[in-house]
Amino acid sequence: MYYSEQLLEHFQNPRNAGIIPDADGIGTIGDPDCGDFVRIYIKVRGDRLKEVAFEVCGCPASIATTSVLTELAKGKTLDEALEIDELDVVKALGNLPPSKIHCSNLGTAALFQAIAHYRHRREKQPFIHKTG
Ligand code: FES
Repeated sequence: MYYSEQLLEHFQNPRNAGIIPDADGIGTIGDPDCGDFVRIYIKVRGDRLKEVAFEVCGCPASIATTSVLTELAKGKTLDEALEIDELDVVKALGNLPPSKIHCSNLGTAALFQAIAHYRHRREKQPFIHKTG
């Protein structure tokens, strides 16, 4: 199996790894108790992703693809981030073995879920009208 230099670099030095304790949205794909999973944390300012962080339990490709995904997503509007797909992730990594394409879907699916979580929470919050 061939891994690109970019993939190996992201695997060895993952960007934005960790958690955001006061995240505005969290998305988890997979099962942390019994298998591969990716959890994405987002912080939103205005309509843009100010911070994106992740935890992952999976193969080197899942770590690298989620790492590069956070870089692609940071600074984008929520709608722009929802346009990111596995081809964008593969392109950013230079290449990905076909048998590992599904690993890149974990991160994008978790990101989409985190954005949905954020939007759901925002809609449920009571509107507070500030005066003065
Ligand atoms: Fe399961 Fe990559 S995350 S094989």
